[in-house]
Amino acid sequence: MSLKKLKQDWECLASADPMWAICNDPLNEGMRWNEKEFFLSGENEINIVIEYLRFLGLDIDFNGTALDFGCGIGRLTQALARRFSLCYGIDISSGMIKLANQYNAYKQKCIYLENFSDKLNMFGENSISFIYSSLVFQHIEPKHTKTYLKQLVNILKPGGIFVFQMPSCFMGPEESFLKKLRNTLQLRTRIKRCLSFAGPCHVLPAIKQPGIKMYCIPIKEISSIIESRNVKITDVVNTNSTNVNFNGRLIYLKEEELCGGYISKQYCVVKQ
Ligand SMILES: C[S@@+](CC[C@H](N)C(=O)[O-])C[C@H]1O[C@@H](n2cnc3c(N)ncnc32)[C@H](O)[C@@H]1O
Repeated sequence: MSLKKLKQDWECLASADPMWAICNDPLNEGMRWNEKEFFLSGENEINIVIEYLRFLGLDIDFNGTALDFGCGIGRLTQALARRFSLCYGIDISSGMIKLANQYNAYKQKCIYLENFSDKLNMFGENSISFIYSSLVFQHIEPKHTKTYLKQLVNILKPGGIFVFQMPSCFMGPEESFLKKLRNTLQLRTRIKRCLSFAGPCHVLPAIKQPGIKMYCIPIKEISSIIESRNVKITDVVNTNSTNVNFNGRLIYLKEEELCGGYISKQYCVVKQ
């Protein structure tokens, strides 16, 4: 899917039912997410990630700058902004960014940017201490994800940490993985319902078959894109992020919990 089409879909979702488009728990479909609970889900997720990084023995530089890649309306960005000196949220959708600005409780130190390209030139090399991305790369075509990953590693400061989520490809060939995943999430039907609930949407004609696609990239490929002399993937752990009722309740899965269903991987990258 081209970035243009991806942006159109997310603009539509942002105008229809933005919180549900981000965390698709069927119970909260149709504008039923409670605003406070939605942002609390981000706070909980970031808390769990920070605890996990501490468990790994990693030091997070809270005096530095954080970046939330694919920030949506700021569910996770606000939680990062509360903890870091400066925080950026970046998203392809102007609708998401507009809402993120409306919900921004840290206007002095939390900046939202719209970016409709696969370039991240707005950030300098070695400038960001902590990068987080959840529920984003799973919707971006791998060729673009690879470009983003290279740049994200490039803007990461020495000593910086980059944590991101991506669905696991372990279910088998990509084709059947994607088909099964889409069926499980029933995103096509549910997004269609969401759009009709929201009434006419100006980009609807361009997305007659609205359906947010899901992608995965095997670990081996991710390592070859990211790893270099001074950049290492220090941890890869299975998580429940692809569960339909995830809602930020991040769980690190043990091997015996992997049977049945679909799982994500959380990658932790450190730059020396
Ligand atoms: C499922 S939402 C997740 C939002 C946020 N990470 C969270 O967990 O609350 C996916 C977000 O990624 C954004 N997105 C998709 N493709 C993107 C891209 N190429 N660059 C930046 N943002 C993108 C979408 O607009 C959407 O806001």
